[in-house]
Amino acid sequence: MYNINDIRSDFPILTKTVNGKPLIYFDNGATTQKPKQVINSIVKYYSEQNANIHRGVHTLSREATILFEESRKTIAEFIGADENEIVFTSGTTDGINIVASGFPFKQGGEIIVSEMEHHSNILPWQLWCEKNNGKLKVIPINEDGTLQLEKLKDLITEKTSLIAVTHISNTLGVINDVKEIIKLAKQNNIPVLIDGAQSVPHQKVNVKELDADFFVFSAHKVYGPTGVGVLWVKTNRMNELHNTKAGGGTIKTVSFEKTEYVSGPMRFEAGTPNIEGVIAFAAAINYVKAIGIENISKHEQELLEYATKKLNDIPEVEIYANHLGKAAVISFNVKGAHPFDVGTLLDKYGIAVRTGHHCTQPLMDHYKIPGTVRASFAMYNTIGEIDIFIDALKKSIKMLL
Ligand SMILES: Cc1ncc(COP(=O)(O)O)c(C=O)c1O
Repeated sequence: MYNINDIRSDFPILTKTVNGKPLIYFDNGATTQKPKQVINSIVKYYSEQNANIHRGVHTLSREATILFEESRKTIAEFIGADENEIVFTSGTTDGINIVASGFPFKQGGEIIVSEMEHHSNILPWQLWCEKNNGKLKVIPINEDGTLQLEKLKDLITEKTSLIAVTHISNTLGVINDVKEIIKLAKQNNIPVLIDGAQSVPHQKVNVKELDADFFVFSAHKVYGPTGVGVLWVKTNRMNELHNTKAGGGTIKTVSFEKTEYVSGPMRFEAGTPNIEGVIAFAAAINYVKAIGIENISKHEQELLEYATKKLNDIPEVEIYANHLGKAAVISFNVKGAHPFDVGTLLDKYGIAVRTGHHCTQPLMDHYKIPGTVRASFAMYNTIGEIDIFIDALKKSIKMLL
């Protein structure tokens, strides 16, 4: 049974008031709140477990190493991966940059992204293209925010080096048919990178079933801490990927003449990693597992349906990608009002929404708008909160228009 009250009581921040009103947190696409299980894991780490990992013979170091490596297993299992395919990064952005700077793409190659990508899945490829005489190509979207997948075939050429697409749009919530993209890529021997920053928090992901080559996501969007994430690298790609950062932890032997690096994920984890972050990341994953990702999905879908209907009943509101069958993210504008003004007024009612371009400026250009107001839901949001939000939005509209 999905007990929303029990879930909410695990998140200390949800009892906070903002501007004298109970906090209603609808900015989960940017980052989620943290349950006490995650917060306590960090406190416990520094109170009882703190030591540097991997090279210590003393008890504390060995214990910290075990916790760190167990976290790798926990996270691997959650996404259907092998633990030796899990590279710990500082987040989605870092994971994409590791691939962009370390994979031996051919000079003059072409990288295909989509029009709805987060800047983090555009800029590393732009940099790569600048340095390597490459070309960035873009899968366009339809007016309803879905990908024009039929155009992908025409974009693929002999020079295509990679297809890098988001699993779920952070701005629109649209879920891309990545299986179809991966299938087409495979027929043409093209590697695929999936940006899973917004899919792992909202739906069951199995990287083995998807069978892409790289998959990236961030802990902080799935109830874990900031500054840590995962780059999943398919086993047979691991040795092809070069490490562009080197340092402690990445080596087998070092001499001034020659250095031998370890194989596997640790080759990409130079220096002391975010140890408490990784351990707390596993605490977050265990928390999600205990609730059940399918149950979370179902709950969020109910919120999406309810909020979409309520918003569609307000004539001044225009929703982008105005359909269901997507993740629980709603981007909208109030006709005649700037999104910042809407967001600022909602904040007066204690409601946190995100406003602006959501790091997807090309998508904003597509819709010819400066930005949107985005309400993105998580496991702890309620229908009651949506009612308060709708009421506050109606009052804000009266003030603005
Ligand atoms: C789809 C998508 N990709 C990439 C990112 C970047 O994630 P991070 O800032 O954690 O690296 C985000 C964050 O909003 C995102 O939503």
